[in-house]
Amino acid sequence: MPEKPKIAIMISGTGSNMEAIASACRRGSLDAVISIVISDDPGAPGLKKAARRGLAVFASPYEKGAAREENEAPIIEALKNAGVSWIVLAGYMKILSPSFVRTFPGRIVNIHPALLPSFPGAHAIKDALEAGADFTGVTVHIVDEYVDHGPILAQEEVAVIPNDTEDTLAVRIHEVEHRLYPKTLQQLFHEDY
Ligand code: GAR
Repeated sequence: MPEKPKIAIMISGTGSNMEAIASACRRGSLDAVISIVISDDPGAPGLKKAARRGLAVFASPYEKGAAREENEAPIIEALKNAGVSWIVLAGYMKILSPSFVRTFPGRIVNIHPALLPSFPGAHAIKDALEAGADFTGVTVHIVDEYVDHGPILAQEEVAVIPNDTEDTLAVRIHEVEHRLYPKTLQQLFHEDY
């Protein structure tokens, strides 16, 4: 049986994708071990959920005015100490510096709530609605040195329906994310892309 890769999950908020990944690991549909869950926000609800699942957690708030590299240094140290081979961004809302990305080249994965290259950024669901898009979706991609950019691993469409609000559309996007992210990670870790 192939060894299970050790992964880190990085979150900033609710952590529903982190939970979907943790559940898939527990069920055995994702062969990976979550070594650490990291957040830039010590009060992130997802961090509590991770701790309740018995996962190791680490919070490292960013200092205002400090260089990105300075803020990232404790996180990089935690990742190295945890010996992870993959870093899974699941609603991590800070932009990683190029030097962070170069420290783990090709080993950082992200999920984004739109069909990239459409609607990059922190408000993708709102932006798609405001643009009057008929459909949007979900993208899973490898992170490179640009924001919401890098080789795409998987995409799935989600239709925008009449009278959708940000909340109703977000519910359907999250449903897709919770299914697509664990499945794509399993393929990435254990099959050739
Ligand atoms: C997810 O929808 C994810 O795609 C998005 O944040 C949400 C986190 O939800 N990420 C981005 O917008 C990154 N640009 P969660 O904390 O419940 O997993």
